[in-house]
Amino acid sequence: MSDRKIRTVIIGIGNSASALIQGLSYYGEDDSRPGLWHKRVGDFGVNNIELVGAYDIDSRKLGKDASEAIFLPPNSVRRYVDVRNAGIEVEAGIPESHMNPSLERLISPIKADGGEFNDSLAAKSPDLVINLISSGMDEVSRQYAKAALNVGSSFVNATPTPIATDTEFPRRFAANKAVIAGDDLMSQFGGTAFHKGILNFILNRGISVKKSYQLDVGGGAETLNTLDEDLKAIKRRIKTDSISAELPYPFDTAAGTTDYVDFMGNSRTGYFWIDGEGFLGSPVRFDIYLKTNDGPNAGGILLDLIRAVQTARNRENYGIAEEICAYGFKRTTTPRKLRESYEAFRDKFLT
Ligand SMILES: NC(=O)c1ccc[n+]([C@@H]2O[C@H](COP(=O)([O-])OP(=O)(O)OC[C@H]3O[C@@H](n4cnc5c(N)ncnc54)[C@H](O)[C@@H]3O)[C@@H](O)[C@H]2O)c1
Repeated sequence: MSDRKIRTVIIGIGNSASALIQGLSYYGEDDSRPGLWHKRVGDFGVNNIELVGAYDIDSRKLGKDASEAIFLPPNSVRRYVDVRNAGIEVEAGIPESHMNPSLERLISPIKADGGEFNDSLAAKSPDLVINLISSGMDEVSRQYAKAALNVGSSFVNATPTPIATDTEFPRRFAANKAVIAGDDLMSQFGGTAFHKGILNFILNRGISVKKSYQLDVGGGAETLNTLDEDLKAIKRRIKTDSISAELPYPFDTAAGTTDYVDFMGNSRTGYFWIDGEGFLGSPVRFDIYLKTNDGPNAGGILLDLIRAVQTARNRENYGIAEEICAYGFKRTTTPRKLRESYEAFRDKFLT
């Protein structure tokens, strides 16, 4: 195993970042603790990941140590562990000029940056920049990708903004001998992965799927944000395309977040309904609900993605990392089956 550190910068110190930073502390101390999906990915263990920078635009988080900022409102991931002081102060990122009003009320954003973001990022010499900002801020997300390019860093895009699936960015990252992975993170055990897994199981047992839906209700700032009608339609399209890849025939399906309930905090309930047909056309139907927490659902898979991206770069697999995208993201150039994606990732990074 390499003892080289992966110098990692996180942009957007929200719920996903909170779980990621708590996970770095918890599993960095002891990687035999339960809940860690993969102890080793490619050349790296959890301890190889080093947080070197943190950026946000919420005035309440700026100037705070990242270990403290992750527990400030509106973040709602609970304090699972005592995080040791990160020694990394949250600095100002690039504000969005047209923020969704409901999100703006929640996050108390700074209106203008002092222009120091690019210099500050360069001073960190990051190997990897992770974009964990609220979804729907396409222009700012693209600016962050360009900033990563300018400092010679790889880039992981957890937001739905097309960056890894863009036509230009992968070529530019490849020319820079860096790696790009995205778009729209797929939670480790969230609605999309679960829905895909169930459909695949039904298919393999010879049942024909006629219709299905997955409707989510959750708390958390990002849930409120994605209720914006335009964003909701984009997220629904991405999830539906990803789910449709599981079956070799067309079927009616819909998937997406339908409501925000503030007191649910970081938790989410996904309601799944599937209507199928078995032997002699006999009906096979079920309803399932799944309760999970968004932050930890992101944190676990992000630990894998950081290590896989740096491994791909070490192996000189520059540009878009297809196996990593299919494993960890919902919006990909070619939607793939969950099992195939996992096996391709395993063969490349888990052996
Ligand atoms: N399981 C998951 O949590 C999950 C799954 C799929 C996709 N994602 C994506 O990951 C991203 C983060 O999700 P989250 O739940 O952590 O969101 P969140 O709302 O908890 O956190 C987002 C953070 O980004 C900050 N931010 C907003 N605009 C910014 C800007 N211009 N520059 C810097 N910081 C900015 C906010 O202040 C906030 O701290 C979202 O785009 C979401 O769609 C998350």
